[in-house]
Amino acid sequence: MLEFKRQSLRPKDVAASLVVVAVYEDRMLSSAAAELDAASGGMLKRLMESGDISGRIGTTTLLHQSGGVVAPRALVVGLGEQRKFDAARFLRASREAHKALKGLPVETVASYLTEVEVPGRDSEWKLMQSALIADYAAYRYTATLKPRPERTELRELMFSAPGYEGEILARASGFAAGIRLARELGNLPPNICNPGYLAEQAHELARRHPEVSVQVLEREEMQTLGMGALLAVSAGSENPPKLVVMDYKGGGGKPFVFVGKGITFDTGGIDIKPAAGMEEMKFDMCGAASVFGLMEAVARLKLPVRVVGIAPCVENMPDGRSYRPSDVLKTMAGHQVEVLNTDAEGRLILCDALTYAQRFEPHTLIDIATLTGACVVALGSHASGLMSRDDELANELLAAGEYSADRAWRLPLWEDYQSQLETGFADFANLGGKYAGAITAGCFLSRFTEGQRWAHLDIAGSAWDAGRKGTATGRPVALLVQWLLGQKTG
Ligand code: BES
Ligand code: MN
Ligand code: ZN
Repeated sequence: MLEFKRQSLRPKDVAASLVVVAVYEDRMLSSAAAELDAASGGMLKRLMESGDISGRIGTTTLLHQSGGVVAPRALVVGLGEQRKFDAARFLRASREAHKALKGLPVETVASYLTEVEVPGRDSEWKLMQSALIADYAAYRYTATLKPRPERTELRELMFSAPGYEGEILARASGFAAGIRLARELGNLPPNICNPGYLAEQAHELARRHPEVSVQVLEREEMQTLGMGALLAVSAGSENPPKLVVMDYKGGGGKPFVFVGKGITFDTGGIDIKPAAGMEEMKFDMCGAASVFGLMEAVARLKLPVRVVGIAPCVENMPDGRSYRPSDVLKTMAGHQVEVLNTDAEGRLILCDALTYAQRFEPHTLIDIATLTGACVVALGSHASGLMSRDDELANELLAAGEYSADRAWRLPLWEDYQSQLETGFADFANLGGKYAGAITAGCFLSRFTEGQRWAHLDIAGSAWDAGRKGTATGRPVALLVQWLLGQKTG
C-alpha cells in the first residue's frame, strides 16, 4: 500500500523523486508552479510561451533537472481555464497526473495539487480524494501473473496542505485498504475465488481485526432455515454455497446491515448466457467483495457503530442437478417464486439473505449487487443505480456518493412497476419482462424487505471496467464508508 504523509517544504526544496505542480490554461501559474518557475530561471513560463505546456485540463508535461530545484523531476499538470475549474476537474487532473507517473522510476512524490483552490471543497476533501486516486492508480493485480523483475514503484506520497492540521490521511488509508480488498477479490479468477475461498477470506479478515467475528452458514443450515431460492441457484454447482456473516462490534445500538451478491461465477445456469463476454461474470461477486472491503475499512477506522456484513456466496452453473425455468421455489420468507430465467439468479440468493439479515434487527439494511444488465443500459459505468422507498435514506446515500466521488443515481421503485412480476403459478416471478429491468429487480427485492429502512444498489455498471484489461473498481466501498461516517446509533 501507498504511504501518505504531509510535508510543508516548498517545491524547490523538497527531497522527492518528483514534484507535481499545476498550471491553468490562460498561462496562469498556481503558486507552487510560480515558485518552481522562479527557482528554475523562468523555465515554466518559457515552455508556456512556446506552447509546450498548454495548461489544458488533464494534460501533463514531465520536466527533468530544472536547475535550482532539489527534486530531479517535475510533473506539470494542466487545470484548464481557471474560471471553469471545479471539483470534477480537480479529480480529472489528479487522475491524469497519476497516469503520467505510471512506469516512471519514482519512489516518492511531493504533490502541490492539494494547494489549488477548488470551489466548495476544503483541504480535507482534496487530501482524501488525492490519496484515494493515488492508491487506486498504484494498485497492481499480480496474483496469477509471473513475478516481474523488481521495478522502482511509487511508495510514498507527500502532500502540501498549508493550515490543515487534521488526520484525514489516516482516514484515507482506511478507505484505500477497503477499496483494495474489494478490487483484489473481484479480480481473482473464479477457479480460485469460489464460495469456499470467500468464506476463508472472511476468517482472515477476522484474524486481522479482533472486533470482527465471523460465522459461515453451510448448506445444511440453509436447508433448515428454508432458503429454497438460494439453494436452488447453487444446485448445479460442485462448489457448495456459503452464507458469510461478518459482525463488527464497534459500538452499541442497532446494526447497519449490508448484504452483497456473491455469485462467484454466473454462467446463467440452464438459460445459459451467450459466450461473448461471459468471462466478465467472474465479477458477479463484486457486491460481496464490496461488503468485505467495507468491513475492512470500518474495522481499520474503528467506527463507533455496529456493522454486519452478509455475503451469500454461490456459483450459478448448468448441470443435471440445476434448477430450471418454470421451477417454483419456496423462499425463507415463505413466498413462492416462479423461475422464468435461471440467469436472474442474483435476486434469488439476495432474497433469502435479506430475510436472514432481518434477524439482526437492522437500523438500516442495504444490499449491493451486480444485478442487471438493464442498469448498465440505463446508467452506464458512471453511476451505481440506487433504489429505495425511503427518501431520507436515498438522499443520504446520494450525498455520500457525491462527496466521495463514488456516485449513485436514483431510479423509482413505484408501486406501478410491481405488476410486472405477476404470474399464474406462484406468488410472483423472478422476472419482470423486457422493460425497466433494473427497477423490476428492485421490486422483487422490495417484497423481501417490507417494513425495513432499506436501499438497493445495483453496481452492474460501476463495479468493474470492461475489457480484457478491465479490473474491479472497488465501488461502492467509498460511498458506503462515507455514509457510515455520518451515522450514529445507541
Ligand atoms: N450478473 C447478471 C447481471 C449483469 C449483466 C451484470 C451484465 C453486469 C453485466 C445477472 O445475474 C443477470 O444475468 N441478469 C439478467 C437478468 C435477466 C435474465 C432478467 C440480465 O440483466 O440480463
Ligand atoms: Mn445472471
Ligand atoms: Zn448474476
